[in-house]
Amino acid sequence: MMEPSKTLGEFIIEKQEEFKYSTGELSRIINSIRLAAKVVNYKVNKAGLVDIVGAAGEVNIQGEDQQKLDVYANEVFIQTLINREIACGIASEENDDFITVSGSDNSHNNKYVILMDPLDGSSNIDVNVPVGTIFSVYRRLTPIGSPVTLEDFLQPGINQVAAGYVIYGTSTMLVYTTGHGVNGFTLNPAIGTFYLSHPNMKFREDGNIYSINEGNYIHFPQGVKDYLKYCQKEEGDRPYTSRYIGSLVSDIHRNMIKGGIYIYPTSTKSPNGKLRLLYECNPMAFITEQAGGKASDGYTRILELEPTELHERVPFFCGSKNMVEKAEEFMLYANEE
Ligand code: AHG
Ligand code: MN
Ligand code: MN
Repeated sequence: MMEPSKTLGEFIIEKQEEFKYSTGELSRIINSIRLAAKVVNYKVNKAGLVDIVGAAGEVNIQGEDQQKLDVYANEVFIQTLINREIACGIASEENDDFITVSGSDNSHNNKYVILMDPLDGSSNIDVNVPVGTIFSVYRRLTPIGSPVTLEDFLQPGINQVAAGYVIYGTSTMLVYTTGHGVNGFTLNPAIGTFYLSHPNMKFREDGNIYSINEGNYIHFPQGVKDYLKYCQKEEGDRPYTSRYIGSLVSDIHRNMIKGGIYIYPTSTKSPNGKLRLLYECNPMAFITEQAGGKASDGYTRILELEPTELHERVPFFCGSKNMVEKAEEFMLYANEE
């Protein structure tokens, strides 16, 4: 196999030239994320050697224990975006409130807001299992020149202009979309350069992997229980196989390559599910749809949900189109009974 030769930098320039009137701001955002990803990757790679494993001793707005790497990745991504003065606002899973970014001349002249989960699957860092970063970019709604407001962040996912993730895995990849398909770039760590390794990524229409935390089974809604039984039934190409890493980025990435469904449903323990609409579900849904897959809350398309608060949670069904549609049928049917 020929080694990929197009770099992420070349790809960004090429894409920008296709948009005649683009100001290059979006390209600069992707460039900054590329830089921050390399910095975080360097630290993740050294986990176990440097003091980055374990809890930071703080609890975030979601009531979850922050890991040292959560805090580190959060700071790296935010600082990189602030230093480069390319966004007018940033919201992060790890921060209570959004950050207003002003230029060095105190202006608010940038047009994009960025929302992110700086370290996804952080409980996996202690055990050497892949973790990730998720990001989402919107055009602000309030006028350029003024400070951002909450309204700029509470937009339905359909408004996203870009979204992507970084997976710090056996190799490190940056996968993103600007609404024209999904492309994946693999980091060559020897020279610190991302190369286009997975052009035009696509979900298969059908798959045979289901990914869900089955330990919560007894707390699941009836529709999800019924769907799982369906997956396990011996018929046609079933039983399916189960794969669950517990790091959304890794689970979706694998399913995009192999075909599968990821489910984090509501449960009696977490009535709205666990995953966050703005930092996790919307960007993953945008990428999934751009790759020909489907994402819903069991009934409604994720990208059409109207957010009401920064850290809100929603149930998440995401992956190969036919599998998600089948799960939705079970949800609807269980409700009608
Ligand atoms: P985060 O580390 O950003 O809080 O996200 C963890 C999420 C997600 O990555 C994963 O799919 C899910 O939590 C796993 O939850 P369970 O441990 O409840 O299965
Ligand atoms: Mn997460
Ligand atoms: Mn996180």
